[in-house]
Amino acid sequence: MDAAGTGKARVVSLIQDVEKSYDDEFQQLVHSLPKEEGWVSGSLYLYQGFWWSSLALKPMISFQTHFQAFDSDVIVATFPKCGTTWLKALTFSTFYRDRFARDEHPLLASTPHQLVRHLEYDVYINNPCPDLENICVYKPRLLATHVPHASLPTSIKDSKCKIVYICRNPMDMFISLWFFSNKLRDENQESLSLDKVFDKFCRGIHSLGPFFDHVLEYWNASQENPDKILFLKYEDLKEDMNSQLKHLAMFLGVPFTEDEERQGVVEEIAKICSFEKLKELEVNNKGLHTSGIPHKDFFRKGKVGDWSNYLTPSMVERLEKLIQDKLDNSGLTFNFSSKISQDKNIVGFA
Ligand code: A3P
Repeated sequence: MDAAGTGKARVVSLIQDVEKSYDDEFQQLVHSLPKEEGWVSGSLYLYQGFWWSSLALKPMISFQTHFQAFDSDVIVATFPKCGTTWLKALTFSTFYRDRFARDEHPLLASTPHQLVRHLEYDVYINNPCPDLENICVYKPRLLATHVPHASLPTSIKDSKCKIVYICRNPMDMFISLWFFSNKLRDENQESLSLDKVFDKFCRGIHSLGPFFDHVLEYWNASQENPDKILFLKYEDLKEDMNSQLKHLAMFLGVPFTEDEERQGVVEEIAKICSFEKLKELEVNNKGLHTSGIPHKDFFRKGKVGDWSNYLTPSMVERLEKLIQDKLDNSGLTFNFSSKISQDKNIVGFA
C-alpha cells in the first residue's frame, strides 16, 4: 500500500528532495542564512526574523514575490498548531454558507486543508507561479498562510483584503507541536525529547518561530487596523463559539440574519466544524496533504489545558517568565485552561 493509503507521513523524504532540488541561486541564499537543525528533518533557516523549514522557505519566497491579492480575498493567517484546521473549516462554512445545501456540506467530502488551500505549504510548494484562478472552490477567494505579518506580500497588506488570524496559549501550542513533530519523524529517527525541544521553543527555534514575535506582529496590526485583521484565540472559540462565529461573520461582511439565527445556522456551523465531528469523518482519516502530512495528524486532542499533563513546574516557570517579558504592556493575554478546570489557570495570565 502506498503512503497515501497507509496514512504514513512522507515529510522527511519530501524535505530531503526539496533540499536536493535547490538551484545555485537559492543555494547561495540559503548558505547566507543562519541555520539550525529542524524538528522533523532538514534544517531551519532564519529568514526575515523567523525560522523557516527547508520545505517551506522556497515556496514562501515565491508566494511573497508573486502573489497578487484582490480586495475581495480573505486570508486565514495562523501560527502552526494554533487551530489552523479549525479556523479554515469555520471560515469556509461561514463565508460560503449560501453556496451549498446543508446536507451536502463540502466538509463531508473534503478536508479543511483541501477547501482552504495553504499558500506556502501547498499552492506554491511545487510551482513558483501557480494558476491562482482555479485554486479556490468558490469566489471570492479564501486562502491560508503561516507567513508572519511583516513578511506578507505587499499586495495583501496594501489591498482591502481581509485577514483572520488565530493564536493559542503558548503552552498548549508547544505541546501540540511536540506531538505533531514526533509523528512526522521517520521510524528510524529518535523521538524528540521534551526537554530538548522545550529549550529550542523558548529560544524561538522552531518552524515559524519565534512564536511571540509572530503573534505580536498580528496582534499589533489588528489593534491598528481592526477592520482589516480579526484576531481570534483558540480558547475563546472553545469557550463561546456562538458569539465568536457571529463576530467572524460580521467581520467577513456576511452577518447572520435573524432568520438564520432562529433556524440554528450558527450552531450547525459550530457542530460540523467541531473537533469531534471533523476527527471522525472518513475524509480526515485517510491520505496525505500536499506537504506530505497525513490528514489525520491534524487532529489530536483538541483541548485547552493539555499542557498541564506534560510540562514540569520548572518548564512552566520558564514559560511564564517568557510570556511576561514578551507580552508585558501589549494588552494581549491568554487563557491556559478551560472553564471546567479553572484551578489550573495561571494567575496573571488568565
Ligand atoms: P492538539 O494537538 O492540542 O490536539 P493546526 O490545525 O494549526 O495544525 O492545529 C492543530 C491543533 O488543533 C491540534 O491540537 C488539533 O487537535 C486541534 N484541532 C484540529 N481541529 C480542531 C477542531 N475542529 N476544533 C478544535 N481543535 C482542533
